[in-house]
Order: sequence, then C-alpha cells, then structure tokens
Amino acid sequence: MIVSTKQLFEHAYGNYAVGAYNINNLEQTMGLFRGCIDSKAPFIIQISKGARSYTNKLMLEAMIRTAGDIFPDAIFAVHLDHGDEEACMDCIESGFYSSVMIDASDQPFDGNIETTKRVVDAAHAKDIAVEAELGQLGGVEEHVSVSEEDAHLTDPAQVEEFVHRTNCDSLACAIGTSHGAYKFTSSQGLHFEVIEEVRRRLPGFPIVMHGSSSVPQDEVKRINAAGGEMKGAKGVDEAQISKAGKMGVTKVNIDTDGRLVWCRVHREFFRDKPEVFDLRKPGIVFMDEYAKYIVHKNDVLGSSGKIDAVRKLVSK
Ligand code: G3H
Ligand code: 13P
Ligand code: ZN
Repeated sequence: MIVSTKQLFEHAYGNYAVGAYNINNLEQTMGLFRGCIDSKAPFIIQISKGARSYTNKLMLEAMIRTAGDIFPDAIFAVHLDHGDEEACMDCIESGFYSSVMIDASDQPFDGNIETTKRVVDAAHAKDIAVEAELGQLGGVEEHVSVSEEDAHLTDPAQVEEFVHRTNCDSLACAIGTSHGAYKFTSSQGLHFEVIEEVRRRLPGFPIVMHGSSSVPQDEVKRINAAGGEMKGAKGVDEAQISKAGKMGVTKVNIDTDGRLVWCRVHREFFRDKPEVFDLRKPGIVFMDEYAKYIVHKNDVLGSSGKIDAVRKLVSK
C-alpha cells in the first residue's frame, strides 16, 4: 500500500528512522520489497533524476506499482530524490509520488527559499509532501580542513525561517555526511550538535539525512579481493545512525550500500563462475543478498517490526 511520507514520519519521529532506498532496476526493487516484508518494516522507495532517465521513468513507476501488487502487505511511500524544479513538477503532475525532494541547496538562502516555495505550492495543491535541503553535502577530501567542512553544514540558526517561509514538510540537513563510498578520511562522523539544535528549534519536524550509507568494510574487502579498486572507502558508523534516528532524523537515505552489494555479488559471481553468462544467475544471488542487507539495515534504523502499527495508523 502506498502511503504518504507524512504518515510514516508521524509514526517514526523521535523513535526510529524510515529507510529511504534508491532503486534503478527490477532486481533492486524485488530485493527491497522482499527485505522490508521479511523485516516487517515500512519504507520509502526513492527514484533519482538519474534513475528516471536510466531506462524510462514510466518503467520504474510500473515496476513499483507491480511490486506493490506482488507484496500486498508492503507499506511504503514513493519519493523523488534530489529533484530540480522541472523534475519535481513532472512528478507532481504524474500523481504517482507521495513526496518530492527539491534540491535547491546550491542556491543562496533566498533563492533556495523561492524555488522551494514554488514547488511546495504546486505539491501541496495535490496533497504531495516536499523535502527541501538547507546546507550542502560534499565529499570529505584529505585537503579539506575542518573549518571548510563546517562551512557546508546546515546552520541551525536558519532553519526556522527556512521552514516558515517555504512551508516544506521535511528538511534535509547537512550534518557531516556526503554522498558515495568515500565519506570520511579518519574518525569523523555525524555532527550531533547540529541535529540537536535543529530539533530544539523545530520540535517534531522531520529531519532527513542524506549520504547515510555505512559502506560495510567486509563488503569493500570482498569487492577488492574480487578485482575491485575501492581503497579507503568509508561510511557512516551504524551506531551513529541508530542514535540519529532517536533524535528526529526520520528519513535515512541509502543508495551506495545497495550498489556495493550489487558490485560484490557480480564480481564474486563472475570470478567464481567464469563459464556462466545467464544474467538471471547472479540476479538471483543479488536479490537474496540485497534483501538480507535491507533486513539488517531496517534493524539498525529501528523500523523493523513497525509495519502493523503503521498500517493501523493509516487505516484510521
Ligand atoms: O544522492 C544521490 C543518490 O545516490 C542518487 O544517485 O543520481 O547516481 O542516481 P544517482
Ligand atoms: P549514500 O551515497 O550514502 O547511499 O546516500 C544516498 C543519498 O543520500 C540519496 O539521496
Ligand atoms: Zn542524497
């Protein structure tokens, strides 16, 4: 059943986080639904602009609809990840999405507000929620000093004005993470002081964490042992993710970890079975392994076992 992100956030806020998983293809979709059913977890399935153009946006929408039929017990929301204004308007028009993210975080404060507000007005007219972004995620490179890194973090002093003027429904905050597999060079981690201050200023308002993959070291080792080159890959500590989920971080975005599972499965598969050329063979292994990863991650987020309570809430 497709539900609104608002309903998911209402149930989760302050207790656990909902996993927002990116998908690009059939195998990811099947693994994700299976993993969430196995762990009885509500979830958000999200589609980036890149995913929409990888094959065709209609293909992804049809796959998600069909997965909902195959797994009738699933409780999930459908979200546009990192949309620009054009992609947001297109998704709002389509009527299929529960929520859209307008990412105007590269614009100055007032420009970000104006763009976000235009999307919010169009989305709310159709009862669709909007995630906005304040602050900028980036790569943490060796040459970036702490103060430069800090300059990209969300400034909590701006969040009340931003939310008030845009009327957005959730806020992606830069709290020390970055996208991809190379997030940290040493022991850096989440800036809990930023989360705490945003929560103090906006009590009850859902905070979104992007760049939340944990880049499991075992996965990286196996990829490298099977011919990959991912030296120095590092993600967010899972204990920190669990902690953030109790502090108002209500949506946790994960894409890279799923790609790592895909990469490890396929590298090992073709290393160990060089005679095989049937794409379904590694596909089956991937769907199983991805479902297992999702079960584990929903445990970390605390969303496991919450599906029935959410079902009750949405059927009221
Ligand atoms: O935040 C970015 C997501 O990982 C989506 O990545 O634009 O390559 O699909 P993508
Ligand atoms: P990761 O690259 O850490 O998986 O983050 C994904 C993300 O933020 C999607 O919006
Ligand atoms: Zn993101």
